[in-house]
Amino acid sequence: MSERFIPIVDRRANPVPPIPADAGPATGNLADVRGRRVRDLRISITDRCNFRCTYCMPKTVFGRNYPFLQRQELLSFEEIVRIARVFVAHGVEKIRLTGGEPLLRRYVENLIEQLAAIPGLELTLTTNGSLLARKARDLKAAGLHRVTVSLDALDDATFQAMNDVGFPVGQVLAGIDAAAAAGLSPVKINMVVKRGTNESSILPMVRRFKGSGHILRFIEYMDVGSSNGWCLDEVLPSAEVVRMIDAEFPLEPIDPNYPGEVAERWRFRDGSGEIGVISSVTQAFCATCTRIRLSTEGKLYTCLFAESGHDLRTLLRSGASDADLSAAVAGIWRGRADRYSEIRAAATARPDAPTRRIEMSYIGG
Ligand code: GTP
Ligand code: 5AD
Ligand code: SF4
Ligand code: SF4
Repeated sequence: MSERFIPIVDRRANPVPPIPADAGPATGNLADVRGRRVRDLRISITDRCNFRCTYCMPKTVFGRNYPFLQRQELLSFEEIVRIARVFVAHGVEKIRLTGGEPLLRRYVENLIEQLAAIPGLELTLTTNGSLLARKARDLKAAGLHRVTVSLDALDDATFQAMNDVGFPVGQVLAGIDAAAAAGLSPVKINMVVKRGTNESSILPMVRRFKGSGHILRFIEYMDVGSSNGWCLDEVLPSAEVVRMIDAEFPLEPIDPNYPGEVAERWRFRDGSGEIGVISSVTQAFCATCTRIRLSTEGKLYTCLFAESGHDLRTLLRSGASDADLSAAVAGIWRGRADRYSEIRAAATARPDAPTRRIEMSYIGG
């Protein structure tokens, strides 16, 4: 095991707040201490991935002996669906399946089918695209609405240096085509931009996807987890990305699709589509953050940068009723005060700043 080994499995857990006797039914209006509603549930269904992106699962940490979760530790599909229903009653409108790589979870289509049966829900999934060409039709048939595919470059040399397993660009492009053909659209494409690594891929990516109907989004490289060796010098601010694109393809800003949308939207002035930028480092969007994350093993995280989660699995497996679960979830959200990206500079400068945060591959994006 490497010396740099840092366990991502969150052995600690925040307590689930005591369940009040008079919790009452869910109203869909649950608000946290800053008045934010819960609207977007992200469910990580595996902590494993077939890529080793250097900014997410560096091989030095996620090596052969890495202690990934064991089967009995994972929430079952039945448990996931129970929790999802509770959240929908509290106002969740969108569920995103993440990982690791969610398409590695066996029988994922069965889970999608069960979640798709919950009324009033948008169902999406974020994938590295490696298995999409094979699975897109079945995912659509199971009831998935859309996919977001991660792709960091268009040339194999850059992409393979970033995914670190020699995975070719062509197969991800085939996955994107298959997703669009299956009707999992609009397909969104996420490119994490690292200054000095793949900024020269920005314009080729724009040229490739402009006019395709897909929506390309540029994500500022973030300090998630504690294993990617993040430093501010490697962040290319979104403002620079927009300036670079605008010089070749004039852009104009457009309104968000919904309040609190993570990506800031820009449209090509020639009418050939739009791009998005996600600027969690230079322009924090915590004030409107309606997201909550459920880990593969059933811990609930109220922020991407949380140090620990609330253990719902123990509650589930100790015979809690749906009403108990509902009250527990409500208590967790009501107590939420997170705004890490807004206070990043202050938080990291604190002498007692945590040295270990939850990894992106464990909690999903
Ligand atoms: P759609 O509008 O449904 O496509 O979803 P989205 O805009 O939330 O997109 P997606 O889930 O693909 O998020 C894109 C990326 O933004 C994620 O992979 C993360 O890198 C980043 N991101 C999403 N949510 C948060 C968040 O709450 N905090 C921070 N700091 N980053 C986030
Ligand atoms: N910074 C920004 N985005 C990241 N992702 C993974 N790690 C990081 C990071 N450190 C992205 C992935 C994928 C999504 C799940 O999150 O590329 O698009
Ligand atoms: Fe896997 Fe996505 Fe992390 Fe890359 S960013 S290692 S594809 S989970
Ligand atoms: Fe939400 Fe935390 Fe991201 Fe802020 S840093 S937007 S609170 S998940």
